[in-house]
Amino acid sequence: MNKILSKWFYPKINNKFLDDVKKIVDSNFVNEGPFSKKFEKKLALKCKRKYCAVTSSGSTALLTALLAIGVKKNDEVFIPGFSFIATANAIKIIGAKPVWIDIDVNTMCISHEDLLKKINKRKKIPKYLVTVEVNGYAPDYQKIISICNKFKIKFITDSAESLGSRYNKKPLGSYGAISALSFSPNKIITTGQGGAVLTDDKKLHKNILAIKYQGNHIRGDGGADTFYRMGLNFKLSDINCALGLSQVNSINKRLNNTQKNSKVFEKILGNKNIFFPKIHKGGKKLWIDCLINKKRFSFINFLKKKKIGFREFWLPMNKQKSMFSNINLKNVGLISKKGFWLVSNFDLSKEMIFKKFKSK
Ligand SMILES: Cc1ncc(COP(=O)(O)O)c(C=O)c1O
Repeated sequence: MNKILSKWFYPKINNKFLDDVKKIVDSNFVNEGPFSKKFEKKLALKCKRKYCAVTSSGSTALLTALLAIGVKKNDEVFIPGFSFIATANAIKIIGAKPVWIDIDVNTMCISHEDLLKKINKRKKIPKYLVTVEVNGYAPDYQKIISICNKFKIKFITDSAESLGSRYNKKPLGSYGAISALSFSPNKIITTGQGGAVLTDDKKLHKNILAIKYQGNHIRGDGGADTFYRMGLNFKLSDINCALGLSQVNSINKRLNNTQKNSKVFEKILGNKNIFFPKIHKGGKKLWIDCLINKKRFSFINFLKKKKIGFREFWLPMNKQKSMFSNINLKNVGLISKKGFWLVSNFDLSKEMIFKKFKSK
C-alpha cells in the first residue's frame, strides 16, 4: 500500500506475459514478428486507424512520423511549448526548426488562437504542425483542422499520453495525418520501451515502414536487399510487443479507475488554491493533475511529508537550453509553474486515498 501511494507512477505487468515470453523463447524468434503484428492490429483498432507500425520508442515514432510526412532540414514546424522534450527533439534532430505556439490554459494543448496569430504574422507559413495530446487532453481539433486546411499545413499528433482517451467521439491517436504513441513505463500500457506510428494513408505507411526498416518498406533479410531511401532500425521485438499485448485490454479499466481517483483527490485537496482541471467530454486523464496558485513549496513539502507521490509539470520546452529560444509563451509559463501530477498508479483505490488522509 505504501508504494502504491508514494511512488508517483509505475507500470502494471501481469503474469500472462510470461507464458508468451516462453512461447517466443521456445520458437527461438525474438525479432519483430507475429506478436508485433498482433499488437499493431490491436492498436490500429483501438485508434480506428488503417495502418500501424510499432517502433523502438515514442521518440523514434515521432521522428519516423516527421520524416514520413516530409519534414527536412531547415523546415519550420509549429509546436506547442508545453510537452515532454522528446516532441521538440524529434524536430530538432532532423535539423528542422520549431516554431513555438502557446497553449490554451484549459486544455494544456496547443492554442488555435495563438496558432492563427502566429500564422498571420508570417510571410512564409510553415508547412507542418505537431499537436500534443497532453495527458489525454485534446486541443480544439475542429479549429485546428480548419486552420490546417486553410493554410495547407500538414499535421501529426504526439499521442504518447492519450491512448484510450477520446475527443468528439473519435479516439485520440486518430487525428492528423500521422499519430505517434509511446509505451515507455509511465504510459497507459508499456512495452518497457516502445512506440507506434499510425496513419490512414497507404503512401505514408509505406514511408513509415521504409524509415523503420533501413530504407525499404519490404523487410528482407538484410543481405541482397535494395534500399531506396534513408532509414534506420526502429523495430520493436516480439518480447516487448507481448508485454504490450498483455495490457491492451486493461486500458479502459485503468483509465476509469484514475478518473475516479482524481475526483477523490479533488474532494480532499481541492480548494480556492488547489484546482483540479476538468477534461473535455469523452477525455480520460492518464495522470491525476492539479494546479496550485500559491504556496507551491509548502504543497510540495506537504506531499513529501504525507508520502504521496507526485511529479512537477514540465518546464517550458522553448526555455530549455537545448532549444536556444528566447520566445515567451505566457500560458506555458503559467501552467508549468502551477502544475503537478499526483500519484496515478493503476492499483490505487478510493479507500487507500481516504485512509491516507485520515492518518496523520
Ligand atoms: C508527450 C510525450 N511525447 C513523447 C514522449 C517520448 O516517448 P518515449 O519516452 O517512448 O520515447 C513522451 C514520453 O516519454 C511523452 O510524454
